[in-house]
Amino acid sequence: PVQVKKICCIGAGYVGGPTCAVIALKCPHIQVTIVDLNKARVDAWNSPDFAVPIYEPGLVDVVKQCRGRNLFFSTDVDKAILEADLIFVSVNTPTKKSGVGAGFAADLNYVESATRRIAAVATSSKIVVEKSTVPCRTAESMRTILEANSRPGTRFDILSNPEFLAEGTAIADLFKPDRVLIGSLQTTEGKEACRALADVYANWVPQERILTVGLWSSELSKLAANAMLAQRISSINALSAICEATGANIDEVSHAVGFDSRIGPKFLRASVGFGGSCFQKDILNLVYLSESLHLPQVAAYWRQVVEMNEYQKSRFSKTVVDTLFNTITGKHIAVLGFAFKADTGDTRESAAISLIRDFLSERAFVTIYDPQVSEEQIWQDLSEACPTTPLETIKKQVTIVHSALEACTQKEAIIIATEWKEFLEIDWQTVYANMSKPAFVFDGRLLIDADKLRKIGFKVKVIGRGERV
Ligand code: NAD
Ligand code: UDX
Repeated sequence: PVQVKKICCIGAGYVGGPTCAVIALKCPHIQVTIVDLNKARVDAWNSPDFAVPIYEPGLVDVVKQCRGRNLFFSTDVDKAILEADLIFVSVNTPTKKSGVGAGFAADLNYVESATRRIAAVATSSKIVVEKSTVPCRTAESMRTILEANSRPGTRFDILSNPEFLAEGTAIADLFKPDRVLIGSLQTTEGKEACRALADVYANWVPQERILTVGLWSSELSKLAANAMLAQRISSINALSAICEATGANIDEVSHAVGFDSRIGPKFLRASVGFGGSCFQKDILNLVYLSESLHLPQVAAYWRQVVEMNEYQKSRFSKTVVDTLFNTITGKHIAVLGFAFKADTGDTRESAAISLIRDFLSERAFVTIYDPQVSEEQIWQDLSEACPTTPLETIKKQVTIVHSALEACTQKEAIIIATEWKEFLEIDWQTVYANMSKPAFVFDGRLLIDADKLRKIGFKVKVIGRGERV
């Protein structure tokens, strides 16, 4: 029976980094090497002062315990492949920007190059684990590529082991996962490889939480889980529009609905729209898959989850414009939060980007504060969001500052776009004193105590609440 002693992880990103760092922590007898072509990223993982490239609570602590012991970061992809018994492929799979399936299908180029590299370099048998989120049956393509290019006597077993961690809670999720899912071919060799990976997780995950299924079920379950989570948010956001129109309160509705044990209370928080690198991408991937399988009704069903999210974002921007007397041209707006959720510096598909793009197209002046996102990242995201506007022009309309208080000073409206806890500590009395009047606050995250702010004098609009400002 195969016993995993050396692991290589290709891709040192949001998934590969934390996942394999936790494997190294929990399995001191396994040597884990995380490789990436991006040298700056690898250097950051290796930095002497632990300035790791992603912000994730608890991550530095894990890296401190294992780096140099049984956890290594390197750009030497080939060496790590050569030495490993098991290789995670944890590269990015963004939505395709051009060609067939543009805007929907996953770009599998990075998965394919990593797979080809494994085939070209390996001189002994390997278990190759698909960790990236991929369309159903990608493992089949990986197997074909590996088998067509392998040396005599080398065998490759392919497993699917999708990752369910959420950013901001990655370490807690990895320490105590709801489940670990492993898909394999139902052959003797496939099951053997599956057991070898299950044994790695069994070092800290209870047996009953390690689910083993067929390859295609595993791949599809990942897309299904993300689609169903996002669907809950779109459902509650659709209801938030009804609340605003009727005077119902979305918090009360979520609470009442979530009390049904069949529905459950989690993931029913109305917001300005879901963001992040996964939900939209994975649903579009599912839509594309459904269309390729000639299932147009299924495709339309899932597509609506993304459309509702787009509607929610634009509906929020429109509320801001409408409330500010139908024009924000030349007005000064503070946007608090730029990351797609709290406790991460990640901005991929962040709702804040769509809002700011809308405000800029109305020719408002926008001041942004986020505790974790770098200025460089904000400029890059805004340039991509406004491709026809030169960055110099954007910079005339946008200011980035380093505290919430600074952002709010002398503004006509404040928008809460990310639910950072520190926004709860804002001294609203001082903010109010320094704002132009009437002073508006728009809460896109159900974060603030609206009544308290109204007592100070603010006009407050909260997503999913019908009250007058
Ligand atoms: P990422 O962009 O942060 O990291 C991917 C890394 O892979 C990059 O650093 C890139 O340089 C590297 N890479 C690409 N091709 C390579 C190659 N051929 N050789 C070596 N390195 C290569 O992406 P991520 O957020 O970590 O996501 C990775 C996968 O995991 C995606 O498929 C994603 O859908 C999935 N996923 C992400 C999350 C999440 O929360 N971010 C959660 C679950 C699953
Ligand atoms: C998600 C899945 O949760 C995770 O299992 C998968 O592995 C990757 O995709 P992530 O995108 O990191 O994780 O964060 P998540 O907590 O799911 O939040 C996604 C977006 O939904 C955020 O913008 C968040 O603010 C929003 N959200 C979440 C809501 O608007 N309401 C909710 O009730 C929950």
